[in-house]
Amino acid sequence: MSQAKVFITYAIPEKGIKLLTEKFEVDVYEGDEFLSKSEMIERAKDADAIVTQLRDPIDSEFIESLQKAKIIANYAVGYNNIDVQAATRKGIFVTNTPGVLTEATADIAFALLLSVARKIVEADKFVREGKFTGWKPKLFLGYDLFGKTLGIIGMGRIGQAVARRALGFGMNVVYYNRNRLPADIEQRYNARYVDLDTLIATSDYISIHTPLTKETYHLINEERINRMKPNAIIINTARGPVIDELALYKALKDGKIAGAGFDVYENEPLLTPGLEKLDNVVLLPHIGSATYETRDKMSEMVAINIIEVLEGRIPPNLVPEQAAIYLKKSTTHD
Ligand code: NAP
Ligand code: GLV
Ligand code: GLV
Repeated sequence: MSQAKVFITYAIPEKGIKLLTEKFEVDVYEGDEFLSKSEMIERAKDADAIVTQLRDPIDSEFIESLQKAKIIANYAVGYNNIDVQAATRKGIFVTNTPGVLTEATADIAFALLLSVARKIVEADKFVREGKFTGWKPKLFLGYDLFGKTLGIIGMGRIGQAVARRALGFGMNVVYYNRNRLPADIEQRYNARYVDLDTLIATSDYISIHTPLTKETYHLINEERINRMKPNAIIINTARGPVIDELALYKALKDGKIAGAGFDVYENEPLLTPGLEKLDNVVLLPHIGSATYETRDKMSEMVAINIIEVLEGRIPPNLVPEQAAIYLKKSTTHD
């Protein structure tokens, strides 16, 4: 019997590749430029398992073209790039990488929050350019974190890890989710559940941690931005389209709110033109989970999910829509 084939659309850290290579034939795309959709379709069509990146559009056309695939393992926790329904219809498992990247991503959200509030990037540039001529009482005034209110939209794994950091900085945490969290978890972060309108109107800092879904698309729109406090700073490490980026750009340009930190963009990797000229923003290239430790764990997780499926078992990290189907199924069959 020929070995099962795993296709990896872009080189990931060695750890997972090594685990996969011990058992299967592994085809890793090693280029720097991204594969086109047609090239991806060509290389994936006879693969038994595919490792995808969050920027790969795994739509119904791609999924329909797969002849053998049993699993699509996304190298990310967010899986809005995958048409899960189309995969489910074809009996293909879809997995993601929850949990292992929570702390690294919360660190980047907090790094952005501090950087925007205290103008770290702008001040660093000032020193490098030789403009620092001595301490001045009003040089680079920013905003306190201590005693301020942080509004967390999407209080899941990463949202809660951000809340834990905020507690250490003496901030008050309010949050919004569709479902209120149990009292013991709220107490852990001293976090108060509020509706979205209250969060928008009362937060000094707002950090987004929802997945991108039909419901969260443009959750932060012009009307909501207009109701933010004039000193508000908004941080997005979730997915770009959760914010109407053009509306946010205009508000930042007109000084309607104080600042913003971006790790993700609505039309990634493109920016709303002009965003790069504003000095009240900090712009990162989607590096939320980018630590050596975390990316190794993600790599291992992807490999384990594939091994489980190709050896005939249900993978541990099914996306929630499929967990609801398959885990229920497996308990009824047991
Ligand atoms: P998670 O544990 O599933 O948390 C998501 C939270 O969002 C849940 O608390 C959920 O609660 C809430 N939510 C879902 N739909 C909502 C809605 N319509 N309105 C309000 N809240 C909603 O996910 P996670 O692991 O924290 O990851 C969150 C997202 O971060 C990922 O989906 C990914 O897109 C992004 N991410 C980005 C990076 C990066 O590199 N920048 C790294 C990792 C993750 P309810 O269901 O109760 O509403
Ligand atoms: C990164 O953005 C992820 O969703 O893992
Ligand atoms: C600042 O450096 C101070 O000593 O207040």
